[in-house]
Amino acid sequence: MRKEIKIKKIISKTRRVLKFPKGFLWGAGISAYQTEGGISRNDWAVSAKVPAAGLACDHYRRYVEDFAIARKLGHQAIRLSLEWSRIEPEEDQWDENELHHYFDVLQLLKDRGFTTFVTLHHFANPLWIAKQGGWANVKTGEDFADYVGKVAQSLGQFIDFWITVNEPDIYAGSAYVSGIFPPFKKNVLLAWRVLRQMLSAHNRAYEVIHAYYPKARVGFAQNVLALTPFRQSSVLDRTLVRLGNWLSLEFPYRRTRNDFLAVNYYFHKSLKFVLNPAAGFTDTVRPRGEVSDRGWEIYPRGLLEILLRLKQFHLPIYITENGLADARDRKRRAYLTGHLHAVAEAIKKKVDVRGYLHWSLLDNFEWEDGYKWKYGLVEVDFVTQRRRVRKSAKFYARICKTNSLTV
Ligand code: BGC
Repeated sequence: MRKEIKIKKIISKTRRVLKFPKGFLWGAGISAYQTEGGISRNDWAVSAKVPAAGLACDHYRRYVEDFAIARKLGHQAIRLSLEWSRIEPEEDQWDENELHHYFDVLQLLKDRGFTTFVTLHHFANPLWIAKQGGWANVKTGEDFADYVGKVAQSLGQFIDFWITVNEPDIYAGSAYVSGIFPPFKKNVLLAWRVLRQMLSAHNRAYEVIHAYYPKARVGFAQNVLALTPFRQSSVLDRTLVRLGNWLSLEFPYRRTRNDFLAVNYYFHKSLKFVLNPAAGFTDTVRPRGEVSDRGWEIYPRGLLEILLRLKQFHLPIYITENGLADARDRKRRAYLTGHLHAVAEAIKKKVDVRGYLHWSLLDNFEWEDGYKWKYGLVEVDFVTQRRRVRKSAKFYARICKTNSLTV
């Protein structure tokens, strides 16, 4: 008994409480097609290659309950996306009822005191956009600007942070290189074109939003990768890493205008040069460390390394996605601790990180893999639609409420 008390004392002595800066924003994110349910006029909903999301979390009708849970969990910020195909189901036809719906959703969030991060494009396109060739067609950038203008006009008053497009690199890669997202193409040149068009569309949206709200905070969510050379001694491995960093950081950020950086962090990849042009001369080595249910390596150090690299852009940074597939909730708590420790370290090293939004608030539709992976702080039973707060969500709630982390 006495020994136990002694051990506890030693532990509490070695424990450190890391305080986050005053005003640091805590919360979680979701996206429309992954959670709302009842979306039938976008390119995912009609695809023959992936099952449709169907009712998803029925969040479209249950948003009051879902945001009440977030509030209880101490979240102060919510990231969500608007479904373009609801707002503009056909070219130049605006659905006022759907705009009203989002008006109600955002007004509720503001009334409850949440800071809102609103994504305008999160991997899904209205059918009429898909039919005209999606993002491979320059016209789509113009159409996107019209849609952004309409949103600014109708809902702009409730939007604190604008995220124009979500992960243009992942979108272009998944839809046009690996062919796992609609339109399921495998064409690197087309992917490159799509990526550039999305970045230009972001710039254009930036102008449109600022014309309505000069003080708006506008960015786009970028999936940043932590890359390391497989063999430190290999010039070729190190060159691959340099190229990868340029593609995921310098290239997109140098050609866009941003008021803040919205950073999504999941991956670490160890790169090995191989003499195989078909594989892009790269072999991504299997992770050695701990992995999520999905086999993605858990690598908090990578987040710190990336944040330090992002310092060069001199803009406030918000982590807009970070989380893991963990159905049994065995690793989420340690995952949170590890990654938040990395954020605290970055802040100590003078990186201007101002918020963290965990992915995700709810278990949801995971794109090409349907409902296989469970990212939610809140578990969703997709038969009964019952919500159950996971233990790790309570752990995270303490962090949100105390603005501190014990390590
Ligand atoms: C996407 C999310 C997705 C998450 C996990 C991110 O790249 O933005 O929509 O749920 O990855 O797969």
